[in-house]
Amino acid sequence: MFSTLQTLLLVSGVINRAAAFLTPQVTVPDRVDVIFSGGGTAASIIAGSLSAAAPNLKILVLEGGPTTLEKFEHIQPARYFSHLSPYSTTEQFVVSNPSDAVGGRNIVIPVGKCIGGGSSVNFMLYNRASASDYDDWEVEYSNPGWGSKVLIPLLQKAETYEVNTKAATHGTSGPLHVSYGGNGILEIAQQFLDVGPKYEKNRPLAADGNDFTNKSINVFYRMPKWISGQGTRSDAPHHYLYPQQTNKNLVISPGSRVTRVLFDKTLTATGVEFVYDKHVFPDYDPTPKQVTATKLVVLSAGAMGTPQILERSGIGAASILKSVGVKQLVNLPGVGATYKDHVFLVSPYLADPATTTFDPIFRGDPATWTQGLAQWDHNRTGIVASNGVDAAIKMRPTTAELAEIGPEFAARWKSFYANKTDKPVFWISALAGLPADQTGLPATNYMSAGVFLGYPESSGSIHISSATDVYAPPNYNSGFLTAQSDVAALRWGYKKSREILRRMGAFRGALVPAHPQFAVNSAAVLKETAPVPLNAPNIVYSAADDAAIDTYIRSFVGTSWHSFGTAPMKPLAQGGVVDSSLNVYGVKKLKIADVSIGPEIVNANTYSTAIAIASNAFEIIAKELNIKPPRQ
Ligand SMILES: Cc1cc2nc3c(=O)[nH]c(=O)nc-3n(C[C@H](O)[C@H](O)[C@H](O)COP(=O)(O)OP(=O)(O)OC[C@H]3O[C@@H](n4cnc5c(N)ncnc54)[C@H](O)[C@@H]3O)c2cc1C
Ligand SMILES: *[C@@H]1O[C@H](CO)[C@@H](O)[C@H](O)[C@H]1NC(C)=O
Ligand SMILES: *[C@@H]1O[C@H](CO)[C@@H](O)[C@H](O)[C@H]1NC(C)=O
Ligand SMILES: *[C@@H]1O[C@H](CO)[C@@H](O)[C@H](O)[C@H]1NC(C)=O
Repeated sequence: MFSTLQTLLLVSGVINRAAAFLTPQVTVPDRVDVIFSGGGTAASIIAGSLSAAAPNLKILVLEGGPTTLEKFEHIQPARYFSHLSPYSTTEQFVVSNPSDAVGGRNIVIPVGKCIGGGSSVNFMLYNRASASDYDDWEVEYSNPGWGSKVLIPLLQKAETYEVNTKAATHGTSGPLHVSYGGNGILEIAQQFLDVGPKYEKNRPLAADGNDFTNKSINVFYRMPKWISGQGTRSDAPHHYLYPQQTNKNLVISPGSRVTRVLFDKTLTATGVEFVYDKHVFPDYDPTPKQVTATKLVVLSAGAMGTPQILERSGIGAASILKSVGVKQLVNLPGVGATYKDHVFLVSPYLADPATTTFDPIFRGDPATWTQGLAQWDHNRTGIVASNGVDAAIKMRPTTAELAEIGPEFAARWKSFYANKTDKPVFWISALAGLPADQTGLPATNYMSAGVFLGYPESSGSIHISSATDVYAPPNYNSGFLTAQSDVAALRWGYKKSREILRRMGAFRGALVPAHPQFAVNSAAVLKETAPVPLNAPNIVYSAADDAAIDTYIRSFVGTSWHSFGTAPMKPLAQGGVVDSSLNVYGVKKLKIADVSIGPEIVNANTYSTAIAIASNAFEIIAKELNIKPPRQ
């Protein structure tokens, strides 16, 4: 068991930092068959599956961040918040250029930087996309073999759905276990599930919010988690990659940052160049090393990392490469040109001090951690075996509600949503706590409305700012809220979440500074400090109130950590970067396999889609390398 001091140090990330005085323990071979550039979610799944199916295949995984093997901060679910610490060595923070669309702010995007990437640090919310999301990839973006008919069975195969072993479309024997976590359902979530269907008369409670069809839309559902019934995080490396590491042909090299892909004269990828990451190995030789790949180079550095490796390698928009002085090999304007993410609004309320929330976990309260870790040690249950997100709804507006959202959203609705009834506009949840740095706030209980847009119209971009410096911060524009339709939709989502939360038993008023600044005498000011009755009238908003909400949204919206689509799988003429076999256009033996290939964002949290992409990528690569039979 951990001492209290150790607990606090781990939570604040200080012990992680002490790991910095190491030298590389892994010998990287000069020549292998396949190189993965980036050892995150997708790479762990593909490399592990390939190694299991073809033990003689020489595979190298180069990951910029540290190892996660058997580390409690990756295994014990509630530690997810510690990875977001400013001292984190397991995440890196990509900072956007300031933009007026978000009140002149820089948006900060944390991304996983460790073996397992996002899967080893994420919040473990289990959400799946809609069938039409993948069918659009197949039909509208011309990618045969990427529709829901192919991807849903692959997702089934990847999971063991402990929640209900009989549920259609879910899996019963995959490596990644899914459960409700080991802490039951918190009262705040239960109230959301009780009040929601009573207040929203056409939105009932359902057993499954993740069956890929419109039956999962407009229903309140209990949130499953990427947490096993044994109270551990279902990350990719511990369930696909590490189990294969006794195979000497699989080399996993942490702290190894890929600078660029190497090509011969025929533009065939021959290997990569990398450096030992200066944050992981600060005192080590910084000279670039080269490794040969005889069969294939795979880029799997995530939506933020992959376009940067491409550009440093001479593959990208001619104007970008020229501006930073990279010699152009291929003019591919789609590289880094379409960043997407689910813009996320977290609106905090005060909650009943007697209820249980995750706030003491977020604040690093020693007593809560000590008790929680002791219980986890004892039987793998309790608060440490959960994430505090127990209930949600994927909401699709009715015709009457579309009128409330107003004309700014009408064109987007008609062109994108109207004909596809499985597409929600929002994901809305009542979070048991305020998942933020609470410095300066009273140490009491909070509950938050979390609202993210399923398919923002806005889109950003990410490009390198230096030809050679792999540590140079990228030139990143989030694009958040640059389309007014997104603001209009979120404005309505804010109002909707407010109506539900203020009817819940634990409600004790708004945390005013983190809400719109309405005029003092506005009818939109929440005066009550206790729940209102179910049949209380809805709040009425004036034009001035709407303007205050818009200002608030622009000043407070943030990432939902779902960076996506920066090297899309589309026809070349539509700005594509890879074809439907994941081959980068214009070169040979170079594939991309991570969430950068998504041609359009899906509505759900993106771990599930990373698994779908990786599973399909494994099938494609195994077939091309003549590996039979692929792992069952
Ligand atoms: C804080 C956070 C919370 C999240 N919460 C959830 C959630 O609750 N539910 C959910 O479904 N999804 C969640 N996600 C999203 C999900 O985890 C990601 O979409 C998914 O893991 C992406 O997988 P990937 O393989 O595309 O990239 P990643 O898993 O990010 O892997 C990319 C890897 O490449 C490495 N890399 C980058 N550049 C280089 C380089 N030049 N050389 C070597 N290595 C490099 C990175 O260090 C990283 O490890 C969250 C993500 C984050 C960051
Ligand atoms: C686990 O232990 C706690 C006490 O630490 C107990 O309250 C709980 O019921 C136990 N749960 C299971 C599933 O055994
Ligand atoms: C939606 O369906 C209708 C009726 O089938 C059709 O006329 C319309 O073009 C479709 N809209 C889009 C955007 O596909
Ligand atoms: C759900 O989808 C089915 C089949 O695609 C369709 O027939 C039905 O009308 C849809 N239901 C709703 C509520 O949109």
